Amino acid sequence: MAAVCWLLIHCLLFASSSAHNDFFTSIGQMTDLLFTEKDLVTSLKDYIRAEENKLEQIKKWADKLDVLSAAATQDPEGFLGHPVNAFKLMKRLNTEWAELESLVLTDMSDVFISNLTIQRQHFPNDDDQTGAAKALMRLQDTYQLDTNIISTGELPGSSLGASHQSALTVDDCYDLGKVAYSEADYYHTELWMVQALKQLDEGETSSTVDAITILDYLSYSVYQQGELERALEFTRRLLELDPTHQRANGNLKYFEYQLAKQKKVEGREEGEEAEGRGQKGGTRGRPDDYLPERKKYEELCRGEGIRMTPRRQSRLFCRYYDNNRHPRYVIGPVKEEDEWDRPRIVRYHDIVSDKEMEKVKELAKPRLQRATISNPITGVLETAHYRISKRRATVHDPQTGKLTTAHYRVSKSAWLGAYEHPVVDKINQRIEDITGLDVTTAEDLQVANYGVGGQYEPHFDFGRKDEPDAFEELGTGNRIATWLLYMSDVQAGGATVFTDVRAAVWPKKGTAVFWYNLYPSGEGDYRTRHAACPVLVGNKWVSNKWIHERGQEFRRRCGLQEMD
Ligand code: OGA
Ligand code: FE2
Repeated sequence: MAAVCWLLIHCLLFASSSAHNDFFTSIGQMTDLLFTEKDLVTSLKDYIRAEENKLEQIKKWADKLDVLSAAATQDPEGFLGHPVNAFKLMKRLNTEWAELESLVLTDMSDVFISNLTIQRQHFPNDDDQTGAAKALMRLQDTYQLDTNIISTGELPGSSLGASHQSALTVDDCYDLGKVAYSEADYYHTELWMVQALKQLDEGETSSTVDAITILDYLSYSVYQQGELERALEFTRRLLELDPTHQRANGNLKYFEYQLAKQKKVEGREEGEEAEGRGQKGGTRGRPDDYLPERKKYEELCRGEGIRMTPRRQSRLFCRYYDNNRHPRYVIGPVKEEDEWDRPRIVRYHDIVSDKEMEKVKELAKPRLQRATISNPITGVLETAHYRISKRRATVHDPQTGKLTTAHYRVSKSAWLGAYEHPVVDKINQRIEDITGLDVTTAEDLQVANYGVGGQYEPHFDFGRKDEPDAFEELGTGNRIATWLLYMSDVQAGGATVFTDVRAAVWPKKGTAVFWYNLYPSGEGDYRTRHAACPVLVGNKWVSNKWIHERGQEFRRRCGLQEMD
């Protein structure tokens, strides 16, 4: 192993970033940054103008003196024989050059620099940048996106025209590769270094990175994934560009030796599978948290593996619904659509107006931007507000075997009480009218915003028997039902998926989905396990109403029971 000396220094440089940050997924904070940057550009332009003015003045002075001294030196005696010329020469040398000196020395940058210094306090740091890179790679995995698609900015649903299309440069791809590398994630290192190299090969230039450096990373990351032959190939390519590269020369010999040894073994154990793997064994593919449920979750998020047979589909209906001639809905019945049969999930269309939703967002926005705190149970950053869920968000890292915190919920949320604005009260009333359930025992309306990459991993909304009673302090029993209103359309991603039954519901602005979390007996319905898929393009707004058991004793509607 001593023959292989690698880029360890990078590991040391990047090792310390473990803090979870949600800059990337917070549309509020990101919007602020955008405006801060806009102000800084204005300030920078002012600085450029001031610098140009200064240079202009200096140039004028130089030109004037150029003409003057050219004439004067032609005939010095004649020139100085004129008393005004003699006086002006004295004056120039004694005071005017000093004035010029101070003009040259004047610092035009101080206003801009002080603006920058003030604003920089709010800038993202290295951890934020790393977090953003990792979020991008998570999206890449979930939605199985090709690096080239990401790099050209042609993401599904992003048909916003050229102004929103953004491309990654060679340097950007290289940076993403390096973030993966610093996490010992050789799978993504390879993907992004290959993309960087491809863009270089296609003629893109870079002032910070060259093919040699990229090939160095590439040969190491494929070697780490057990692909000796490809490691050798990349090393040879590197040596074509730089025949004296010391480490590559060393590695070349080492790889050749390893490969020869391996071939010998293969020859001996003919018929046995050896597949050109290196001594390290293969660690190809996605690293760590790739658990079976995660696989299902991601498939459903991509719209794959939804368990909906045509027979089943034909039994789902769309109907006008007036809640047994509820006086408020006889005049304008609501459109109810079946989304799923077992467990029953229904969707109500055009249930809240655009104006009402805008009001709800407006009320929630200042709170979404409020400082976040670390949840003492989960370690996850959350809005410093009354939180009911006590889900444990720790998972076993399959590589280290240690418990680590999962970034299980990446969104910002706020709670709105009915007394805060008539619109909240009106929405609560509508939920009661439609579901027939008492909402006075429900939790406040929760408004959540998921930015790009924002998600909520598989969970139950109800409290389980094996948990400390999360809802005890409320005295209203468990969460009997969930009402989830979509307050935005999402361009790509952001579905609500039910991992146990393989159902998926896509956000549609102004529609709400509703399901029971508990059986009529009060037992939890484990088929309701669900998740919010990461937002790929766009921004997702939802509001939740969790309805509790207390008050529903005579209310749970027969109509909303199971479909048989
Ligand atoms: C929740 C939840 C789903 C979604 O907030 O409990 O499951 O699509 N949300 O936002
Ligand atoms: Fe939920």
